[in-house]
Amino acid sequence: MNGGLRLTVLGAGYLGITHAACMASLGFEVLGVDTDRGKVGQLNTGHLPIYEPGLGKLLRSGLDAGRLRFTTSYQEAAAFGDVHFICTGTPQRPDSGHADLSQVHACVAALAPLLDRPCLIAGKSTVPVGTARRLAAELASACPGAELAWNPEFLREGTAVADTLSPDRIVAGVTSRRAEEILRQVYARPIAAGSAFFATDLETAELAKTAANAFLATKISFINAMAEVCEAAGGDVRSLAQILGADPRIGQAFLRAGLGFGGGCLPKDVRAFVARAKDLGVGDAVGFLHEVDAINLRRRTRAADLTLELAGGNLAGVPVCILGAAFKPGSDDVRDSPALDVAQILTGMGASVTVYDPAALDNARRARPELCYAATLAEATQDAHVVLLLTEWPEFAALTPGSLEGIVARRNIIDARSALDPAPWREAGWQFRALGVAQDTVATADSA
Ligand SMILES: NC(=O)c1ccc[n+]([C@@H]2O[C@H](COP(=O)([O-])OP(=O)(O)OC[C@H]3O[C@@H](n4cnc5c(N)ncnc54)[C@H](O)[C@@H]3O)[C@@H](O)[C@H]2O)c1
Repeated sequence: MNGGLRLTVLGAGYLGITHAACMASLGFEVLGVDTDRGKVGQLNTGHLPIYEPGLGKLLRSGLDAGRLRFTTSYQEAAAFGDVHFICTGTPQRPDSGHADLSQVHACVAALAPLLDRPCLIAGKSTVPVGTARRLAAELASACPGAELAWNPEFLREGTAVADTLSPDRIVAGVTSRRAEEILRQVYARPIAAGSAFFATDLETAELAKTAANAFLATKISFINAMAEVCEAAGGDVRSLAQILGADPRIGQAFLRAGLGFGGGCLPKDVRAFVARAKDLGVGDAVGFLHEVDAINLRRRTRAADLTLELAGGNLAGVPVCILGAAFKPGSDDVRDSPALDVAQILTGMGASVTVYDPAALDNARRARPELCYAATLAEATQDAHVVLLLTEWPEFAALTPGSLEGIVARRNIIDARSALDPAPWREAGWQFRALGVAQDTVATADSA
């Protein structure tokens, strides 16, 4: 079914490891390439350097079956691959909102001179519109046998394996029927199982990814803007979201008010989209995305302000426990983590902050070594005056007032992820605060 195609995956990060292991599980021979020698060594011994449910097992079965291995050698990759997937990072540039494309360019520059047989290079990294067309032109003159396509990735960390093996849609930005046919062969199994396949031009394929992320970010910031209004006007954004979401034209998904989005994709993709649109002379068309970003970041300071209120207006030396470091549950990714930003803000306000996360502690320690971390939930909550739930891991959503009884010093909790039912906490004498719920509303609910 796979036509004997051999695949390389260039860049073994969250996307690349998942893509490589999933493609091997579909029966392809796969060679993963990364410039990080240590990571390649780990992967070849079956050690998954990231937290992603189900991926370790897939990695090990690919290695055991002899269909998957990793290397640092582009020479090997060029000789091996019929299809080369670019999965390198495209972080935000430090000096602007633009995407830093240096990893993508380095990858193509390393591969292109070594190619001496026909192949397809399929970009999966998220890039600004226009990138693929430029790369295609460079490749056409450097190695005529190589063709470029753009095949953006929509996986979500935490459900990356299922998203890769059974995607909602597969987008193939192509310039020839041959490239489309090759990608149809690669994805034959998911297509047969019902994944929609869209063949389109390079620009639309690139935009399919950035526009999707811009829309999702906008939906999250919309409900968080309503949260700000509820806090000022005396409403409850949780009820509001349920009512809005009951309209099928709006829908419940991505309508949970809270601390907003973070991670290695949405924030930088939104900013890169704005920067690219400006370069194209259509900055006004996506000007609203500035506000989407600003609303999102304001939630972080709002969580810190609520903590200050609960602590009685002075955080100097106040023990504060932060539950969560990953940008979302099911991942150990702390890139642009809202939880760690709040920890940092509170530390700056003088609080004595302790952070706990079930999967992301090592990454958090590396990214923000100046913060204090606890190895267990019990240790983190010990003697806390305020507990903040900032990443909705199931073990945090399952917390009850009883589980913290006799451990915390003061019964103050902020649920910044709409993960807890306020009633039992209030009944047990806790000051329970949530983003998007006015203090007055809480008082009214309590006295009712
Ligand atoms: N993480 C996600 O959930 C996700 C989802 C969809 C799309 N994406 C996009 O996929 C791309 C990769 O994201 P990620 O989260 O996997 O990033 P990442 O930083 O985890 O991984 C990038 C990897 O590329 C390696 N690398 C850097 N330069 C290289 C080179 N020249 N040759 C080979 N390897 C090189 C790095 O060592 C690293 O292992 C980004 O464009 C991102 O926006 C990510």
